[in-house]
Amino acid sequence: MSERFEADWLSLREPADAAARDADLVGRASAWLADRPRSLAITDLGAGSGANPRFLAPRLPGPQRWRLVDHDAGLLARAADRLAGLRDLDGSDVQFEIRASDLAEVDAAISENTVLATASALFDLVSADWIDALAARCRQVGCAALWTLTVDGGWHFTGPAATPRTQTEDAAMRALLQAHQARDKGLGRALGGHAPTALRTAFTSRGFDVFEAPSPWRLAPDAHVELAVALLDGWHSALLEQAPDAARRVDAWRRERRADLEAGTLGVEVGHVDLYAEPAPRPGDAARLS
Ligand SMILES: C[S@@+](CC[C@H](N)C(=O)[O-])C[C@H]1O[C@@H](n2cnc3c(N)ncnc32)[C@H](O)[C@@H]1O
Repeated sequence: MSERFEADWLSLREPADAAARDADLVGRASAWLADRPRSLAITDLGAGSGANPRFLAPRLPGPQRWRLVDHDAGLLARAADRLAGLRDLDGSDVQFEIRASDLAEVDAAISENTVLATASALFDLVSADWIDALAARCRQVGCAALWTLTVDGGWHFTGPAATPRTQTEDAAMRALLQAHQARDKGLGRALGGHAPTALRTAFTSRGFDVFEAPSPWRLAPDAHVELAVALLDGWHSALLEQAPDAARRVDAWRRERRADLEAGTLGVEVGHVDLYAEPAPRPGDAARLS
């Protein structure tokens, strides 16, 4: 099965993602790039409509040349439109290349000259073997990596003042969703909420210095109703696929939660992790830079 995403969903989540991202890890990536020879080749995996370069390019030094890789040519075309005129931290134009291809060939996706590999909201879809191949490729080309907004599998609804609500029915739905997340999305048995651990393990074992920070969505009651309802509807579709025999129960759960979200009495928090991996200096690096 191949995973496809709606452009509207990606647009809807972009502001919440921007608010959730960890600024310190972006600062580390920026500082590392500042010491690299120019121009800077950056590859964004699973780029979709370009949310990641839109957020990162103005926060990183230039000149930058981005490669956006995704198997959805429609989303990439939208990205190309929306990235026009983007400038880097130094005020220079940012260059973009779009590459409509499957990420199964990870070595082809990340070119030899890549200095930074990035992705956002991708790794729950991939397998442990794929992440292992990714870490090997990053090690081989000597790039740093900034992996943002990787779901950790945790979510809960919240009441006023962000108090977590514990409801038996939510726990039952969470278990079904975790089973759905593990389905093959085209790159092997998907990691779902295990992706942050797999990334940490793969990059640490290949000698990278790894830094992590939580980047949860905190969607307060009444503040992000459209996004929260779209999230619930996405879960509802996944639950029906996973447990068609439980359709009446799943429908009732969605109906009740949706009514509370729309009434502004319910919020939701979704766990994510950001990770920055920096390659250890290799012999000769200092000489190349001087
Ligand atoms: C959740 S979206 C994230 C998009 C974007 N990074 C963002 O943050 O808005 C995941 C993206 O991965 C892409 N994708 C999923 N599986 C893929 C595969 N096997 N090869 C290439 N792209 C893939 C989808 O087309 C989609 O654009």
